[in-house]
Amino acid sequence: MDQHESKSAKLLFSLVFTGVVLLGSGSLHAQNAPKQIAVPPPPMGWSSWNSFSNTIDSQIALEQAKAMVSTGMSKAGYQYINIDEGWWLGERDKDGNIVVDPKAWPALAPGERAGDMANIVRAIHALGLKAGIYTDAGHDGCGTVGPDLGPGYPGEGSESHYEQDFLQFAKWGFDYVKVDWCGGAKEKLDPAIQYAEIARAIARAESITGHRLYFSICNWGVNSPWTWAPNIGGVTADVWRTSGDIVAPIVANSKNSGRKASFPGVLSNFDQGIHPEAQHTGFYNDPDMMVLGMPGLNDAQNRVHMSLWAISGAPLLVGADLTKLSATTLATLTNPAVLAIDQDPLGLQAFKVSEPSKGLEVWSKPLSTAGERAVLLLNRTASAAPIAVNWSDLGLLTSSSATVKDIWSGKDLGAFNLAYSTTVPAADAILIFIRGHEAKLTTYPAAKQTASVHGVPITKDHPLTITHVSSSARMARIQIVYTNPGRTTRIAELRVNGQIATRVAFPPTGSNATAGVIWIQSLLDRSGAENVLSFSAPCDPGPAIESIALE
Ligand code: GAL
Repeated sequence: MDQHESKSAKLLFSLVFTGVVLLGSGSLHAQNAPKQIAVPPPPMGWSSWNSFSNTIDSQIALEQAKAMVSTGMSKAGYQYINIDEGWWLGERDKDGNIVVDPKAWPALAPGERAGDMANIVRAIHALGLKAGIYTDAGHDGCGTVGPDLGPGYPGEGSESHYEQDFLQFAKWGFDYVKVDWCGGAKEKLDPAIQYAEIARAIARAESITGHRLYFSICNWGVNSPWTWAPNIGGVTADVWRTSGDIVAPIVANSKNSGRKASFPGVLSNFDQGIHPEAQHTGFYNDPDMMVLGMPGLNDAQNRVHMSLWAISGAPLLVGADLTKLSATTLATLTNPAVLAIDQDPLGLQAFKVSEPSKGLEVWSKPLSTAGERAVLLLNRTASAAPIAVNWSDLGLLTSSSATVKDIWSGKDLGAFNLAYSTTVPAADAILIFIRGHEAKLTTYPAAKQTASVHGVPITKDHPLTITHVSSSARMARIQIVYTNPGRTTRIAELRVNGQIATRVAFPPTGSNATAGVIWIQSLLDRSGAENVLSFSAPCDPGPAIESIALE
């Protein structure tokens, strides 16, 4: 075997090992086995809005942070304490700096100054947690539009102060910022333009302070943020809300303590949050903070709520009062197997693979280990009914059996051929883990290559178009083998069949001799081998793509 053949043989082995079968030849890839690149998982934490509304202050934030630790939630992976609307009443000093109420945000340690938001951030960080803050993209925030429990107060948005405010948030030490849209909507601004400006202000604040600010867009799905939010303004990780609030805040001992979360509300936000083509490589659809553990849902509904958010790969931001969680709610929020589904490093979202009859649905989330799927059998009807999941609908081989495990109980249910069926109670769901074998993938090399070329470099001037692509599933799972020898994530824009593009993040692979593997999901809506995938680089350098592969 000459050197060339031996490299090819090694490559073939490694690709088969990662679940790929090369059909045809002509491509010579990077020397090392392509490695699965773990993408940043969706954020996990707590947010003040659902249970405290505009009453949020330092004491509440600190109590919740302490409860996140003492309940064991932080050990389970929850880390953000996010301060939502109501922390600031729109006041600025003569230089335009935000001024906060010193009584609401007092000194917490000797030497601190009352009215400095850095105090609460330090206290949250001292507990090993991260801190989040909130503003609006417009001049006014929701405080003017609909103040809930607070007084009406204009001017608590960041418009005209983007650079100043986001730099301030980073200097205070915040790690996460949620940017609402009440003021933006009132002024009829374009969210894609406004949030790109904000992303640039965040990037500037990050480069000045060296402190990372996770970006959470909250415009309730207006103008389809999943089409423009991934990598907006060059920010490499973000989440965007896909709908309105599940419920208005339910604050104990207040005029709105009688409100109740509803199960249909949870289902509706879940449905509006499904955009699998945009959820990849660290970008996430956000169906809203959870109402799990709040008045209105029983334990079984809380379990379904958690199953829906986990299968969506949704941000897990708890809205309940953490000091008052029941043991059952806490167990639901911290079940390690369920959290692992949500946080799976493949970073993909579930999609509905079948609906055997109206209201009986099978949802599948591909997981990072080849052959593994998290599957939700969802019964939206008013009576118990059997629901079957077919291996062929999951992209698994039908010639081998697959094992099935109940995720909530951890019980092994056995090995099954072709399908698994079980009765799902009315308005309930069963979450199962399936381990089978991947159906064969077909590889499309980016180009005929020589040993010295590791993939086709994508640049602004040289896009890459792969034609004649066929898929056995309309929502295709696409493996991309690439190299990025740089130290930072590179971006390529993918357009399928000339339709709306999505920006895909390609993290560093170490060198241009080491290929990485990421997965995305795309709607391949043309039949036969008629689909066309074009990758272009919004800015140079882009990644070098070796091949794509799909079922
Ligand atoms: C809404 C947002 C909520 C909460 C609230 C504060 O627009 O969807 O999550 O932040 O504003 O007023």
